[in-house]
Amino acid sequence: MNLQDLNELKTKALNEAQSATDANAVEAVRIEYLARKGLLPKVMQELKNVPVEEKPLFGKAVNELKNELTELIKKKQAEFAGSAGSAGVGFDLTQPGQWQGLGTRHPITQITDRITQIFQTLGFTVADGPDVETVWNNFDALNTPADHPSRDEQDTFYLENGDLMRCHTSPVQVRYMMENKPPVRIISPGRCYRRDTPDATHSANFHQVEGLYVDENVSLADLKGTLSYFARELMGPDVKIRFRPHFFPFTEPSVEVDFTCHVCHGKGCRVCKNSGWIEILGAGMVDPNVFGSVGYDTSEVTGFAFGMGIERITMILYGIHDIRNLYENDVRFLSQF
Ligand code: PHE
Repeated sequence: MNLQDLNELKTKALNEAQSATDANAVEAVRIEYLARKGLLPKVMQELKNVPVEEKPLFGKAVNELKNELTELIKKKQAEFAGSAGSAGVGFDLTQPGQWQGLGTRHPITQITDRITQIFQTLGFTVADGPDVETVWNNFDALNTPADHPSRDEQDTFYLENGDLMRCHTSPVQVRYMMENKPPVRIISPGRCYRRDTPDATHSANFHQVEGLYVDENVSLADLKGTLSYFARELMGPDVKIRFRPHFFPFTEPSVEVDFTCHVCHGKGCRVCKNSGWIEILGAGMVDPNVFGSVGYDTSEVTGFAFGMGIERITMILYGIHDIRNLYENDVRFLSQF
């Protein structure tokens, strides 16, 4: 072997390493040339047969070949390590992975989103407000008399500065009307706070979705039509609704709205206590005093409002018997949804 043979071998080796397209090919080149039984150790042994005057040059050239090839192979190995589709050296791609499981959205979030979507198809937009409210937004502007029991410290959380934790999301409607002229078509999903002792059906914080529609000539028939549509979208086409007279300070007339029981479809069963009906929401025509508080002209507009508890609807739809399940963050419970 002479210097020229050695140069040809160098070109070939570097070309092969350079054109390797995956980690396996790089490894094959390494074994072919650099391994103990590879070509380069053989060439080193040839050194003793090289004519004396060529020896220094030949030795130097072999070393250069070895160093350049080693460098190139290292570079290629790094390039392919961890790239998809090729097994990095020492990494077994055929090993099955460890499934971590998919999370789900909390049932309260799921039902809130569902309710929101239904009203969005009717042209309602979502309005938001703070959890900490003024007494005026939460009670006064909503025509709640000074001696109304819900204002009591037994029922509402007051802060030291005189503000409170809102006990319903109705103050969002007050805020919205103060800032926007009619027509209004909003819903306000959000968290509410009441001083309740926790048990299977009560929690000191819970969620509501409230709705408000204000325009010229809005009537109770519009409220009925809107809520009938909502009921069918939420429960299915067979559901019926009924209005029962009720009282809220901020609406006149006020109603409570029942849906036919989703379990027995109105025949009467354990879930609906044999009545065939389940109470779902409160509603009514906006009291003129509320419009007065926010500066709307009662000779021009009328409106309806409604509000519902999301925990209650979630429990009804999913057959959950204890509201506390929704707050304990037990993954065994939550992963069912
Ligand atoms: N704010 C009422 C409640 O918390 C619900 C409601 C809203 C009733 C709007 C009528 C109109 O119970």
